[in-house]
Amino acid sequence: MKELLESIRKKAMEEIAQSEDPEALRIRYLGKKGELTAVLRGMGSVPPEERPVIGALANDIREQIEAALAAKAEEKKEKELAHKLEAEALDVTIPGTACAVGRRHPLAQTENMLRDIFIGMGFSVAEGPEVEYDYYNFEALNLPKNHPARDTQDTFYITDNILLRSQTSPVQVRTMEVQKPPIRVISPGRVYRADPADATHSPIFHQVEGLVVDKGITMGDLKGILELFAKRMFGKETKIRFRPHHFPFTEPSAEVDVSCFVCGGKGCRLCKGEGWIEILGAGMVHPFVLSNCGIDPEVYSGFAFGMGIERIAMTRLGIDDMRLLYENDVRFLHQF
Ligand code: PHE
Repeated sequence: MKELLESIRKKAMEEIAQSEDPEALRIRYLGKKGELTAVLRGMGSVPPEERPVIGALANDIREQIEAALAAKAEEKKEKELAHKLEAEALDVTIPGTACAVGRRHPLAQTENMLRDIFIGMGFSVAEGPEVEYDYYNFEALNLPKNHPARDTQDTFYITDNILLRSQTSPVQVRTMEVQKPPIRVISPGRVYRADPADATHSPIFHQVEGLVVDKGITMGDLKGILELFAKRMFGKETKIRFRPHHFPFTEPSAEVDVSCFVCGGKGCRLCKGEGWIEILGAGMVHPFVLSNCGIDPEVYSGFAFGMGIERIAMTRLGIDDMRLLYENDVRFLHQF
């Protein structure tokens, strides 16, 4: 019996030392059907006087095996931890990978500049719908049905009376209907015209409208505001020039040019040798338009102007094809 127990001890200790799986060995030796358990079950055949000695020996072996198994399990846990730490090691001293930072689209940049400039002069921002009534886009602006000036703004009709607005001027009417003078607003937004896309046209583009109405507003105020705007947008040296023009909703009307900020007026590629670049339309709000909106033209006067954001962006950034602004090619966009 003694020899049997000693041989179990020896074998168990050797196996535990080699083992990767202490749990399996626990079952093999100490489990219900384990080798040591089997020996202890056979105690009945041991003469009574030897039983205490054999019993003590068996207990001693059990304790030794248990201790060895526990040590082995601990060792295994430590090894696994060390492994995990090594595998998941994080070197915080390795330089990071910079992530690409986006930027605003050149049109959004330009619109934000326009907003800043006019808000800085005391204007607030008004908005209007892109799907508009014929009344606001044309009729109230002194462009009755069949007026020839509608042709230049050929637009997309949804019904006979509803269309995609061809200009931001309807926001003038909407503003004057709900706000009484003094009025000082700009309204940036998207407009639509049935023009095929080419280097200078797009069926969808953006405008900013400006409107000031109060007592005693004159063309001199219009000129002053636009001059300040031109200097802020294109540089301190910029001059402006008014050329007579016609818009049905302003009287008198003008087209406004800025002196070329590249050549200073001498003539270059940007201004096509002209020295001037056309940037907007403007004029004194027509008395009919004021009356249409319930504002007495005998008491109040005002001016309005409207410009294309694409044109301003292209002029300022030296972009020669409008289509580039809509293609979303990052190689292009990253330059601005
Ligand atoms: N709405 C005009 C256009 O699109 C521009 C404009 C606005 C002219 C306001 C005068 C006053 O051509």
